[in-house]
Amino acid sequence: MQDKVIEELIKAETKRQREGLEMIPSENHTSPDVLKALGSRLTDKYSEGYPGKRYYGGCEVVDKVENLARDRAKKLFGVSHANVQPYSGSPANQAIYFALVDPGDTVMGMHLYYGGHMTHGLKVNFSGTLYNSVQYHTGKDGYLDYEEMADMATREKPKLIFVGATAYPRIFDWKKLREIADLCNAWLIADVSHISGLIVAGAHPSPVGYAHVIMTTTHKTLRGPRGAMILCDGNPSNPLKAVERTPENLPTLIDRAIIPGLQGGPHNHQTAAIAIALREASLPSFKTYGKQIVKNAKKLADELTKRDFELVTGGTDNHLLLVDLTNKKVIGAEAEVALGKAGITMNKNTVPFDPRPPFSPSGIRMGTPALTTRGMKEAQMVQIAEWIDQVIEHRNDDKFLEKIHRDVKKLCKQYPLPGEAKAK
Ligand SMILES: Cc1ncc(COP(=O)(O)O)c(C=O)c1O
Repeated sequence: MQDKVIEELIKAETKRQREGLEMIPSENHTSPDVLKALGSRLTDKYSEGYPGKRYYGGCEVVDKVENLARDRAKKLFGVSHANVQPYSGSPANQAIYFALVDPGDTVMGMHLYYGGHMTHGLKVNFSGTLYNSVQYHTGKDGYLDYEEMADMATREKPKLIFVGATAYPRIFDWKKLREIADLCNAWLIADVSHISGLIVAGAHPSPVGYAHVIMTTTHKTLRGPRGAMILCDGNPSNPLKAVERTPENLPTLIDRAIIPGLQGGPHNHQTAAIAIALREASLPSFKTYGKQIVKNAKKLADELTKRDFELVTGGTDNHLLLVDLTNKKVIGAEAEVALGKAGITMNKNTVPFDPRPPFSPSGIRMGTPALTTRGMKEAQMVQIAEWIDQVIEHRNDDKFLEKIHRDVKKLCKQYPLPGEAKAK
């Protein structure tokens, strides 16, 4: 690389990942093939529009790439339509609002502080500014409060309900959620960004058949490049023609919302990398991977509970754990910093009914997708729980944290990043 400054920074970040435990639940380590596609000439090509209907010449190759990605997505999730062009999860959600509701309409989503995402109607986000957003919460037990949701849907009559989360450790009951949406004839949107890899692996129920529209980022448990997909059923007509907001017209509504509604040219290198990740996710080994993510998270939950950590909902059904640190007399930010010094990366997070402010919350969020990609299993989760416990206890002792980091590095050497050889 000619740019030595950036080259060094890329090396430094790779080393940081190689020698540390990445436990941010929305992160993962992609395959060498995904990385190769991201660094390919496909990034040079403009192709506004959709395969066969482009505003640019020379699209015959990228048409094939996008069709492959769409076909693989449809097959893997069992839907009849897939849009693979969203630049990332947030613009994908923006496109869904643009497709299905008008500014000022009432929309309903889970509050950020209780596990939802900003784009699900947070007051400072476009979704809470352009639309009349009403927000639901979890109950005191940390579980989704389906009763509150049903009451809110009946009272507020939202036109659209977003379901999905960034920090929710339990299963979504899609049937119940569709019944709630039907109370007010709302569109049900499943944002499965965090759990799409688990769904593909059969480790979490699929929203297909219940949600009108499904959105997933491609870079979390699905283990692809940064990006997103919008999935639905219906009858694709001409994406350039305005149509009525009916379930049958969902493919057209979504495609039009992406372009010309919101985006310009698709990122073809990203689309190719998504196609690769979708093939990888269709292999039997990915089913084993997804199930192991959950086994690892459950083991970590058990081991932390044994060490007197308080888990929101008392455990996990998926890839993540939300830990309330109040009884440990440490706040999330302090824990995040101390764990970081020991080479264990996770993030501070609010817990339901958090008495502390969102910039300095009581909890910490951790997940197992990236560790599982490296091949770690239950035995390593026992060790990691022990390290987390020790780090929290000795959080002000930098020498101690350095020692743990040395041990973490030793473990990491046994579990190389995808495509790398085991260090001697
Ligand atoms: C549930 C959910 N939706 C949407 C997004 C947004 O994705 P992105 O960061 O790619 O914009 C995230 C990312 O954290 C998420 O967790």
